[in-house]
Amino acid sequence: MRKLEISADPASLAQNVGTALVRRLGEIQTEGREPSLVLTGGTIALEVYRAAAVTDPGDLDWSRVDFWWGDERYVPADSSDRNDRAAGLALLDHVGVDPMRVHAMPAADEAHQDVSVAAASYGELLRTHGTGMFDVVLLGLGPDGHVASLFPGFPQLEGEDIALPVTNSPKPPPVRITLGFPTLNRTREVWFLVSGEEKADAVARALADTGSITETPARGITCDDTTWWLDQAAAHSLPPR
Ligand code: 6PG
Repeated sequence: MRKLEISADPASLAQNVGTALVRRLGEIQTEGREPSLVLTGGTIALEVYRAAAVTDPGDLDWSRVDFWWGDERYVPADSSDRNDRAAGLALLDHVGVDPMRVHAMPAADEAHQDVSVAAASYGELLRTHGTGMFDVVLLGLGPDGHVASLFPGFPQLEGEDIALPVTNSPKPPPVRITLGFPTLNRTREVWFLVSGEEKADAVARALADTGSITETPARGITCDDTTWWLDQAAAHSLPPR
C-alpha cells in the first residue's frame, strides 16, 4: 500500500515526520521488536532528525533502536560531508542511543583504503549483525530521481550485493557506499522524505504508472508499505487526486 502525506511546507513536513517516526519506533517496541532504522543523508532528513530529537519519546526507548545507513559519503570520519556525522549532530548525540547499535558505514581512513573493500565490509556487518529485515528505511530523493546513492543509469541499480561502492557520483562527493535495492527493499516500511519544487518532477516520475528505474531510481523501491512524506512544493506535479 502506497501512502501520500502532504505537509504545507518544509518546517511542518520535518515536524510531522519527526513526530511520526518517534511514535512508530515506540509502537514497534510495544509490539515486542527492537526496531532497526535505516537513516539517509540530505537536507530534509536532517530537519526530520532535529524534530525527532526534541519530540517527547513517550513509549520509545532510543537505546533499543538499531541504526543503519542507506548510503554514506566515502570521506574521512570527521568530515562534515559524512551522513553519520550529520545524523549524530542532529539526533543521535541527543537522545541516549546505544553506541553499539549505531552501525555507521566505514569511513575513508587507513583501515579502509579501498571503497570496494569498505562496501563489502559493511555488507558483511549487515549480514552477520542485521536481523535480515529492517523496520523503517528512510530515503531522500534527488531531483534526478536518485535514492540512497543509486543514481540514474549507474550499474549499482542492478547490483545484487548488500552494499555497493560508487565512484563518479553526480552528486558530490564522488565516492560513496550505498545499499542496493534488494537490501533496501527488505524492510517492513519505507518512508520517502521529499521537500522542494526542484523535486516535484522526480516525485511525479517515481509515482507514475509507467517509467524506468534506470531513469528514475526511486522506482526500484518496491516495498509494499511505502509512505511518501512530501511538502506542497514537492507534490505539485502529481496528478490531482
Ligand atoms: C546523500 C543522500 C541522498 C539524499 C538525496 C536528497 O548522501 O546525499 O543520502 O540520497 O538523500 O540526494 O538530498 P537533499 O534532501 O539534500 O536534496
